[in-house]
Amino acid sequence: MTQHFDSSQHPHHAPLILTPQGWHDYRLLDSGHGRKLEEVGGYRFIRPEPQAFWAPHLPSQDWAEPAGVFVSGSRDQDEGGKWELSPSLPAEWSVNFEDIRFLAMPTPFRHFGFFPEQSRHWQWCADLIKARIKATGTRPLMLNLFGYTGVASLHAAKAGAEVTHVDSSKKAIAQGFANRDHAEMTDAPIRYITEDARSFVARELRRGRRYDGIILDPPKYGRGAKGEIWRLEDDLADLLAAIKPLLSDQPLFMVLTSYAIRASFLSLHHLMADTLQDLGGFVSSGELAIAEDRPHGRCLGQAIFSRWQAETTL
Ligand SMILES: C[S@@+](CC[C@H](N)C(=O)[O-])C[C@H]1O[C@@H](n2cnc3c(N)ncnc32)[C@H](O)[C@@H]1O
Repeated sequence: MTQHFDSSQHPHHAPLILTPQGWHDYRLLDSGHGRKLEEVGGYRFIRPEPQAFWAPHLPSQDWAEPAGVFVSGSRDQDEGGKWELSPSLPAEWSVNFEDIRFLAMPTPFRHFGFFPEQSRHWQWCADLIKARIKATGTRPLMLNLFGYTGVASLHAAKAGAEVTHVDSSKKAIAQGFANRDHAEMTDAPIRYITEDARSFVARELRRGRRYDGIILDPPKYGRGAKGEIWRLEDDLADLLAAIKPLLSDQPLFMVLTSYAIRASFLSLHHLMADTLQDLGGFVSSGELAIAEDRPHGRCLGQAIFSRWQAETTL
């Protein structure tokens, strides 16, 4: 019997486990007993982490007096809940990654307005963007769908891409502008568009616009700017098929990430591979994780991803 995706038989299929590299303003200090202890721009926070089955590594005094604790609303810790914040914590504060400054804040969605584990994708895209510029002297065009607060867009623009950033939420786009201004990248070539991702893709196809790189991080459930309903399980395959013809004649990459779905990275891998199979190139897939900041620190998977890279950057 053939083993189709058995990494012991096909080492080139081995899943990638990627953890953040090069951060000073984000650290996972410890995890255990269903929680994680993190430092974000000098402030310590405790958030639920149902995957941390093990015991904490650090003594309990290291977990004492954080600037904020997210208290879960449900027993399985998956939904609801609220922050309990120290009165001295500012509403937002500055963090830095690879010389890009952006804003951190505790959000009702229990995160900080950015996702450090995504930085491996930012770096991977930046390498391909720079390779293209070096080879051809032209700025690649990148599309960031479901772009949220836009750190990926800033990073790609800094690497030299012209970026189109799409999100259906006015609030997310406003935060994208705030981050752009905070980074002092007001003149960066980024178009911010408040629109439903699928409507935008359909419109771009009609207009004949094409992109060299596309990244997308669709939520499990979302709403377009006009109330259009997005359900990942129902809508992702059609969206990916619709995006494919948006790739230019000399495409560079496509990156698909997903949080909060009950699926292995294999589901994204096969969708990506099937959709783009006639373009050649390579698909690699796996998990984005965060790692405790010490030798042999334990890792916590945060998201699954699949990314496609063209055969050549030329
Ligand atoms: C998981 S977040 C993306 C996080 C982002 N990639 C990052 O790393 O910062 C999902 C985003 O999709 C947006 N969204 C939800 N439904 C949408 C839709 N139908 N069209 C466009 N954006 C949508 C939300 O407003 C939210 O900002």
